[in-house]
This record gives sequence, C-alpha cells and structure tokens, in this order.
Amino acid sequence: MARKVSCFLSFFLFFDFRSFRWMQAMIFAINEINRNEYLLPNITLGYAIYDTCDNIAKASEEMLTLITGAERYTPNFRCQKTSMLAGVIGESASAISIAMARILSTYHYPQVSYFSSINTLSNKREFPSFFRTIPSDTFQTTAFASIVEHFGWKWVGTLAEDNDYGYLGVHLFSEQVKKLGTCIAFSETIPLVYSSDRYSDIAETIKHSSAKVIIVFSGDTNLLPLFREIVMRNITGRTWLASEAWSTSAFLIEKDQANFFSGTLGLAIPEGTIAGLARFLFQVNPLHNPDDINMKMFWGYTFGCSWSETLNEQSNRTLCTGNESLLYVNNAYTQVSQLRITCNVYNAVYAIANALEDLLSCGNNNETILNEACIPLQDMTDNLNLQVVRSLQRVRFTDQAGKQLYFDQNGDPVAKYDVLNWQMGADGYLVYTKVGTYDASVPNGQQLVIDEQATIWNGPPVSECSNSCKPGFRKSVLRGQPICCFSCIPCPEGEISNGTDMTECLKCPQDFWPNRNKDSCEPKDIDYLSFEEPLGITFSVSAALCVCQTILVTAVFLKYRHTPIVRANNLEMSFLLLLSLTLCFLGSYIFIGEPTSRLCVLRQTVFAISFVLCISCIFVKTLVVILAFAMTKPNQNVLKLFRPSHQRLLVVLTTVVQIGICIGFLSSSSSSIQKNREAVLTKIILECNHESNMAFLFSIGYISLLALVCFVLAFLARNLPDNFNEAKFITFSLLVFVIVWVSFIPGYISTSGKYVTAVEIFAILSSAAGLLVCIFFPKCYIILLKPSKNSKSNLTGRSHHVK
Ligand code: TRP
Repeated sequence: MARKVSCFLSFFLFFDFRSFRWMQAMIFAINEINRNEYLLPNITLGYAIYDTCDNIAKASEEMLTLITGAERYTPNFRCQKTSMLAGVIGESASAISIAMARILSTYHYPQVSYFSSINTLSNKREFPSFFRTIPSDTFQTTAFASIVEHFGWKWVGTLAEDNDYGYLGVHLFSEQVKKLGTCIAFSETIPLVYSSDRYSDIAETIKHSSAKVIIVFSGDTNLLPLFREIVMRNITGRTWLASEAWSTSAFLIEKDQANFFSGTLGLAIPEGTIAGLARFLFQVNPLHNPDDINMKMFWGYTFGCSWSETLNEQSNRTLCTGNESLLYVNNAYTQVSQLRITCNVYNAVYAIANALEDLLSCGNNNETILNEACIPLQDMTDNLNLQVVRSLQRVRFTDQAGKQLYFDQNGDPVAKYDVLNWQMGADGYLVYTKVGTYDASVPNGQQLVIDEQATIWNGPPVSECSNSCKPGFRKSVLRGQPICCFSCIPCPEGEISNGTDMTECLKCPQDFWPNRNKDSCEPKDIDYLSFEEPLGITFSVSAALCVCQTILVTAVFLKYRHTPIVRANNLEMSFLLLLSLTLCFLGSYIFIGEPTSRLCVLRQTVFAISFVLCISCIFVKTLVVILAFAMTKPNQNVLKLFRPSHQRLLVVLTTVVQIGICIGFLSSSSSSIQKNREAVLTKIILECNHESNMAFLFSIGYISLLALVCFVLAFLARNLPDNFNEAKFITFSLLVFVIVWVSFIPGYISTSGKYVTAVEIFAILSSAAGLLVCIFFPKCYIILLKPSKNSKSNLTGRSHHVK
C-alpha cells in the first residue's frame, strides 16, 4: 500500500487526508482478518507501507526493496525467509501502478490496485499478476458516452491529465462519442507540474469555446490549480463531467467557489459501508504507534501542532501532545459518510486474504484437492506468490454489503458506477448527490439510469456548436469544421424537412406540395380559370358587355328595319350574324369555370359552330354584294341563282361541314380532363386534354379557311360601288378577324396552364367584337347620328340596292 503522503506535503503544503484514510482502512482490514478465526486462522498478516511520492522511479525502487525483503535491494534475490510476501496493494495512480506491475509481474507477485483504472492494465499478457477492485476505464468511458447520448450533447470539450490515464480516458471517450455524432470542441492537457501559463491558456480556451460540457480525466491534485484559475476568471455556466478520479474529491472546491462547480456530473465507485471502520479511524493516535512517522505528520497537520521543539520555535506552533481529539475534526480523513475508494482498498485486502485462504484450505477439501492451485502447506515456499496469483484469478467472496466479488479473466471487477451530481447544500458546501447508476453487467439500453428530476444544472445543459436546424431547413456542413458545426439552409422548392437537424430535405409525393414553412406536404391546389379570379371576372364582364352591345345593335336594326340602310343590308343575314355573334360571346362563358369532360366537348362544338355561322353569314353577305354588282350587268339571271333560300342553304352547308368535323373528332378521340402538373409546380391545373385541343385547332383551321376565302372575295369586291361600302367593312372586319387568330397561334403555343384558356377566350371575344364593330357600328352610326344619310336617294344615288 503506498500513496504520496509525506511528499505531498513538501509540494503543495498540505496533507492528503483522504489517502491517509485509505491507508488506515488497509490496516483496519488486516487487523480484522487477523482477528477473524475463520479466515486464515493460523496465519498472521503483516504489512509494510511505502510512499511512492507519485514518482515512478521511487516506486520501482521500493518494489525491488519490498521483493528483496532487506534494507538494500538486490534484484532477483529474496532475503526475507521468515515472512513471505503475499501480495502488494496499490497504487492509486495508474502511471505508478504500471511501473510497479512491470516489476511485480516479472516475479509473479500479485498486485491488487484499488484506484488504477487505466484500460491497458487489463492486458494480462503484459500484466499477468495485476488485479484491481476498480473497473477499467473502458467501462467508464462507455458510461460517459451513454450520459452524453442521454442528454443529447453534441459538442463537448475534453481535458486530460498529462499521463496515460488522462490521454487514454479522453481517447476512449472521444472514440465512443464520435460514433454517436458528437464532436470534440477542444482537447487540452492538464500539466503535472505547476505552470500558470498553461492554466491560463486552458481557462481561456474554455472561456471562448461554445462547448458548455467539459469532460475531465484527471486526478484531483493536478486539477486544483486549474480550477482556481477558472474561479479567478469567473468562468461559469459550464457542465463538468468528472471522472472517478476527482468526482468525489474532498479538497477540490472551497465554499465560496461552490457555485462554479455545482451541477457537475461525475462517475464514482458505488458506495459501501465498512462496519467498525469509523470507530477505528477516530481512535488512531500517534502515541499508540510512536514509530509511525506518517501518523505524526497526520496529527500535526490535523491539529496544527508540531512534534519537534525546534520546528515549533520557527513556526510558532504548539507542541502536539497526543491528547487532541479527532472527534471534532472535519477533514477528508474524518468524512466517512460515503465510502467508495476506501471500500476498494478494504476489498483488495480481503481478495488477497481469501485467495490465500482458498489456497490453504483446498487440501482439506476433497473436491479441490485436484485443483492445480492446491499445494501442501509445507511446500508453500518460493512459489507461493505464483500460487496466490492463480488463486486470485478464481477467488470469489462476499463483501461487507453481501455482494459477490471476483475478478474476470482480465483481473477486473464487475463494472458498476454511481452517477453523482454536485449540488449546493444548505450550508453552502457542495454535496455529492447520487442521481443515477451505470451497470455494465445488464443488457444494453438499460445500463444507464438517471433521475433527471433530481439533477441540478449549472446553466442550461445544452452544448452545441451550431443551433439545431428547424423543420423546413437542412444542415449544411461548414468547410474545414467538425460535422457538429453547420449552417441551416432552407429546403429547395418542392422539398420539405419535417424534423429538426435533418441532413437532407425530402421531395413531396406527386400531387403534394410543401406548405409555407416547408415542414409538411399538402395536397396541391386544383386550379383553373374561374369566375372568381380577376381574369375570369374581366372576361365575363367583357363578354356581357359584348352581348349587350349585340342586343343593342339588334334593337336598333329592328327599330329601323324599314329605313333604307337596314333594308339594303340583307336583313335576314344581318340578324343571323347578330345571333351567331351573341352565341360566340355567350360561348366564351363555358370556357370559364371548372372544366369537366362534357364541358370540354361543349366548348369545342359551341365555339366551332357559332364562329362558322358568323363567317358563313359574312360569306353570304360578300357573295350578295358581288352578285348585286353583277346584277347591274346585262345578264340578270345571276340573282335568281342566289335567292335567300340559297343563301340559307349555303349557311347550313358550311355549318354542317363544321358539325361533321366536330363529330368526326369527338368520336375518334375521347375528350377528357387532364391534370397539368408542369405548368405551375405548386398547383394542379385542370384542362381539356390534348386530343380535344387538336379538334379545337382543326375547327379553327376550317373557320380560318372560310374567313380567308371570304376575305379574298371581299377584298376583290371592296371597290365595287355597293351600298354603304359594305364590302369594305367586311374586308376590314375579316382583316381584324384574321389578325386576331393569327396572333392567337404564338400566344396559344407559348402559354401553359390556365392561360391557354385565357388566350382562347381573348381571341374569341376580340375576333367576334371585331366583326361586330366593323360591320355594324358604321351603320348604327348613320342610323342614329346621321339620319339624313339614311335615305333612299342617298342610297340609290350611289348604287342599286339589293334585296
Ligand atoms: N483512476 C485514476 C488512475 O487510474 C486515479 C488517478 C488519476 C490518480 N490521477 C491521479 C490517483 C493522480 C492519484 C494521483 O490513474
């Protein structure tokens, strides 16, 4: 058993009371075993205590001395014949234990450590005779990773003591958390030798890092100056994760610094009780063991007194008497409410004792006589140590709390930890409250149990490099930075992200479109040119106006039907034209509104027929003008050839052709509604399908052909001296008509969605209005505003009237 006691004193000028307690616990355990008549009844255990001073060289030298068994060590020799070396208990720091284990393993001496947790000591090829009552850091780091995962910390800083314990602890931890997607914000090393520059550097790093959770693998003594620096720089709001080496440290925090470190979460060895230990600890007295220098030093530091007169004069201290009472002392030695490492020390002693007992008793037991570990008592000489190692490998005993204790094939105990939370007590001191457990022996997922309600934090327990991305955004990794640092960019058009911190956005299914926040998909709106929207309203109003105008013109014509100008104008055809124009205007209404397959058919037919009616009326009118002119020529039979009945027949014929085209098309292809998803991504546009559009184009073709023929005829007849320049107006109106429908083509091709319908309606309205305005308005103008011109003389003066 060894731990820096006196050496500590010269360095930091304080005495490590906690280690002294551990030492006393070992003595207590050995005394207890010696008194026990069932455990090693015929054997008395003794002990020698060495202080390694936390120094590898010193520890190595002491090990050789211990093995030699004489004042001067002689490697490879044992000079003590009377008392055998059963085993070594210690050390606490892994670095020293490793050095010791190399020597002890060479000579096969068993070593049981109570505090060295570094994972490399589990390697039994290197350290075959090393055992320990503290679990390996492999489990501790896994436990920390579980805690980090539990609280969802993604950005953690690490501090490692400048030795293998610190490095390997941080390394194992980092490896584990990286798998969980957590990044290490910074990794700093805590020097073993006091260096104020290093402490201020580390404190600066902590201060400026956005990582609010910091894990520290370090012993308490090396951590102390750093913590003082942190208090000095007023760094608060951090959540510290304490490794078992400092999570229950007694001297780290002074009362006024408590608020800096409250909220710390630490792993600790499960608490235990040792009956009678407290009494033993309180009754030690240097007067009982006058040769024990450690005890004297302990006494001096506890009571502020000195044992030497000369020293006293220098330091003005009182002289120690040995009658001082420990009962009123409050330091790490007297704090026996939570025994953790102390239990490990106690169990280490018992492990060796039980191993010895197993060895000795196996001869009395028939079952174990064949056991290779069994040797007759008289043969237990030089190779006892090796026998103890073998016996330790299979030792099993129950500790004070009734728990089975044994070492696995790596010499490690079952890994169990308490999760401690440093909380501010009523008296202003920190108390280590147990808020959970970690048990490596139970199935995955149930190992960590934490009572979050009972946990108190120092600032909000969140630690992120970047704020998490809200739904509707996705993470975008920043160049040259860890994956935990990212920016959030909004999902592109048509994509959503429905959770926080999504790495990718998802496309919405067909007929669905993201909502405003881009966090869910909604069914796309169905769209068509409706009566409610401005465009629909404009069209319906203009159609209504056009209809009114047509009715007005009809009324004027009806009222003045006996005046020459109207009579001269082929009344029947005029009314038929006005009727078909009304039909055209009214027909535009069925282009507005939700399309159905029936409406699609209706649209094409109404459009085709009403326009063919218009053009054929005009056609007839043109023919009549030409023929009227011909009538003035000697051959008067021409008029007979084109009587009103013929005119009607022509109209009917041209219309029937158009009806034929419609029927042909509609029967060959089914007219149905199609959903246009491409025109506007956010909407589904309902439109009449392609085939019916073809029919539409075909009937337009026919109408255009008629119009063209008619236009050519009217153009030829434009200079004939007919009534009121009829042919001129017809030419003009057809020009407007043709221009409208020619310009319709590029408009029709280049638009998509519901605007195709809009272009159609526009063309229908404007071409029909063109006809109305050009053919009828000049006549109305004369009828209403220039009645003087509306006379037979005026008419006949210029030309012959036609009936
Ligand atoms: N479990 C730690 C180890 O294995 C204990 C420890 C860390 C320690 N640093 C220390 C003990 C310094 C004493 C001194 O090393």
